[in-house]
Amino acid sequence: MGFADELAAGLRARPRCIAPKWFYDAAGSALFDRICALPEYYPTRTELALLDRHAAEMAAAIGPGAEIVEFGAGSSVKVRLLLAALQRPAGFVPVDISGEHLMAAAARLRADHPGLPVRPLVADYTAEALVLPPAAGRRVGFYPGSSIGNFDPAEAERLLARFRAWLPGGGLLIGVDLVKSPALLHAAYNDAAGVTAAFNLNLWARANRELGADFDLAAWEHAALYHPPLRRIEMHLVSRRRQTVHLAGEAFEFDEGDSVHTENSYKYTVEGFQAMARRAGWQPQAVWTDGQRRFALHWLDTVAPKEAR
Ligand code: AVI
Repeated sequence: MGFADELAAGLRARPRCIAPKWFYDAAGSALFDRICALPEYYPTRTELALLDRHAAEMAAAIGPGAEIVEFGAGSSVKVRLLLAALQRPAGFVPVDISGEHLMAAAARLRADHPGLPVRPLVADYTAEALVLPPAAGRRVGFYPGSSIGNFDPAEAERLLARFRAWLPGGGLLIGVDLVKSPALLHAAYNDAAGVTAAFNLNLWARANRELGADFDLAAWEHAALYHPPLRRIEMHLVSRRRQTVHLAGEAFEFDEGDSVHTENSYKYTVEGFQAMARRAGWQPQAVWTDGQRRFALHWLDTVAPKEAR
């Protein structure tokens, strides 16, 4: 389904909802880049610091001659730290749904790594049928940014199992945001500069631009709250008043306080994530976390740790 059909179906549903993948048009991707640089949004800089500090250990775990497959590669900034530490990488396959962005990032990487085969693949890795090119070496997936947290746990486990099937005999280096103080999480999704609010509201701006909808942005408020029992941040767009919105010839009524659920961002303990990875067929091995235990990078392999073999 395209944006128009999914949005209309989500506005008819109760509770109202829309998948977070629709955040990322050009304006939404630019807003997300600004989120990553915010003082309150700790995941990006914490993960970059972990990659910077432990790249040699990660490269040793991965081994020489590996081919890296990055899912949802975007601008491929983080993988550069990994590629620089790897011994004789056999190639890099960035996978992303946004073709233009992907090709530009691949061209920059080729220029900076002459001799490294870079084979971009425009595809939706969340879809069932991903056809990767023939492997050039032991295949290792790279999935940073805690994007796994934007799927509910059952979907996340299915995605991990699909990665396992797409990387036979390979490994997966994956970034996962950790459970932490609700106050810190609340601040990260309610930044003082209002960038996360603009990112959330861009959904309605996008619907107006692309679908000719008539959302009045001033009549909606960003809400992000941490739900401790479910260990997730929920983002919503909340109607400030009774209103009617038109989309593709259909009228949608909202009362004051009605909300549309736009994103979940699940947080995991190290052990909780490892248990899910095991259920998906992976063998959890090393884990790198920062001193404040805000973020984790997990190395998952298809073989058991050496001492257990
Ligand atoms: C992309 N994803 C991991 C981000 C997150 O933290 O869940 C998206 C985001 N939403 C609001 N701020 C950032």
